[in-house]
Amino acid sequence: MLIFILAYIFYTLYMNLIKDPKSTSFLSHKTVLRESFDLPLWLNIMYVHVMFACLAMLTGAVNFSKRMLTGIPKVHKLNGYFYFISVLIVTLTSGYMAPYSTGGRIVSIAFNIVNIIWPAMTVIAIAKARRKQYSKHQEWIIRSYLFCFTNLFIHLITSACTKGFGLVHDISYTIGVYGAIVLNLVIAELIIRFRKLPYNLQTPLNKNRGNI
Ligand code: HEM
Repeated sequence: MLIFILAYIFYTLYMNLIKDPKSTSFLSHKTVLRESFDLPLWLNIMYVHVMFACLAMLTGAVNFSKRMLTGIPKVHKLNGYFYFISVLIVTLTSGYMAPYSTGGRIVSIAFNIVNIIWPAMTVIAIAKARRKQYSKHQEWIIRSYLFCFTNLFIHLITSACTKGFGLVHDISYTIGVYGAIVLNLVIAELIIRFRKLPYNLQTPLNKNRGNI
């Protein structure tokens, strides 16, 4: 899994910072743009967005490692706060980009909903850890971490709609954004439902169900 995430991080950085740093391909699909759209500013914010999105993916992935969880809890905690800060920066930058979204207002609303629920899920996950409710902590962090794949799902669904069903780009992107949110939530619930709890999370269940 870590290999897949590392490959995706390198792919994202390569595509957005090296291959197409001016986002020409992505921006060419924007049919309507507000007057206040400032390309250099948008690009700089997008770079910050992409870099912290990659940091969120990396810090999140590292923290799922069993060895990190049981062996070096201090690093797990510090890394967790880096993850949280990255989530905040991704959503703040998203807050700037959302009003200029491809697909217009309906897509901008979807992004702004994620701007609220993603940090909220992460805060709940941290609160559960601080109360030593580790199983609940894991559930909420799984829900939160799935949002790191929002951009991947948006692009997969958008190209399935344009190339597979011949839909116009704006409609495909709108379906992509809403579809990605639904996929994030559904996949997270499936992982939570079928995950195997590590031993150190199972033990308190037997001793004290309140902690779970
Ligand atoms: C964590 C993984 C994420 C990555 C790697 C990522 C990456 C990107 C990239 C590369 C772009 C530029 C356009 C493109 O090529 O898609 C972009 C745009 C954008 N992202 Fe993200 N993103 C991520 C998560 C999110 C999340 C969770 C949100 C919502 C809170 C979000 C909100 C936005 C917005 C609003 C735009 C502008 C869309 C538009 O102009 O139509 N991103 N993102």
